[in-house]
Amino acid sequence: MKILDTKFVQGFIKMANDGYLQGWHERNGGNLSYRLKTDEVESIRPRLMDHGQWHPIGASVPGVAGEFFLVTGTGKYFRNIIVDPEASIAIIEIDEKGENYRIRWGLVEGGLPTSELPTHLLNHEVKKRTSGGVHRVIYHAHTTNVIALSFVLPLQDEIFTRELWEMATECPVVFPKGVGVIGWMVPGGRDIALATSRLMEQHDYDAVIWAHHGMFCSGETFDLTFGLMHTIEKSAEILVKVMSMGGRKLQTIRPDDFRALEPQFHIELPERFLYEKEDPAEIGGPAKA
Ligand code: 13P
Ligand code: ZN
Repeated sequence: MKILDTKFVQGFIKMANDGYLQGWHERNGGNLSYRLKTDEVESIRPRLMDHGQWHPIGASVPGVAGEFFLVTGTGKYFRNIIVDPEASIAIIEIDEKGENYRIRWGLVEGGLPTSELPTHLLNHEVKKRTSGGVHRVIYHAHTTNVIALSFVLPLQDEIFTRELWEMATECPVVFPKGVGVIGWMVPGGRDIALATSRLMEQHDYDAVIWAHHGMFCSGETFDLTFGLMHTIEKSAEILVKVMSMGGRKLQTIRPDDFRALEPQFHIELPERFLYEKEDPAEIGGPAKA
């Protein structure tokens, strides 16, 4: 089967373009990766190259050794993916130790996978294990409103989660486990990759915010992963508007209201996000004892 005609490549291209149309991918900002299913690899195997050289990943990912990933190229613009996918994206194979990768298709004009490959692969490794192999998509976007909030909210998981949840009733239903936040770090390396994947593991977060940079989301499908990014960013946009209107809420969704959602939507909301505030109108953390 022609690689470009496969459903997973078409889904990948659509998602990348949807993100571009949202304004989350200025220049080469953001990156996307997808872990191929065995039957997807077999359906395209005759069309894969096998003379590419091996490159170090920059992190050790034995949990995804031997797997194939569709990834965006470093320095490639999301707006060009739909126009010229073969020059913008690549299929890579991970070696049997999980230390190196080689390009098997794509990037026909040269280039390498995204500089955030360590974060993508470490997140894939964690999520493959904790989701029982169901998660396949890792998405990084430069979401404007989430980035704006990272300048004015304390960089704490509890406060970001609670304030985002309060902005739309669907939020605790869409991301009941909350969001993780990490302070500013140098992107593109092993340290930020480890910090992100640790949060995805420890609290089973499917979304982690990088302060002053953007967000990483993990999910089972392109729709679910895009939908998660979209929901969080929309909620951040509402919060930015509320703060821009003075920031004092006359009314809001209260801890007991969140608890009332649990049986209806078959979710469990960790109590650490449902703290009482000194003044419920205020944006911020728990009341001081
Ligand atoms: P790449 O072009 O290497 O994917 O980097 C873009 C980016 O968003 C880095 O965080
Ligand atoms: Zn980035």
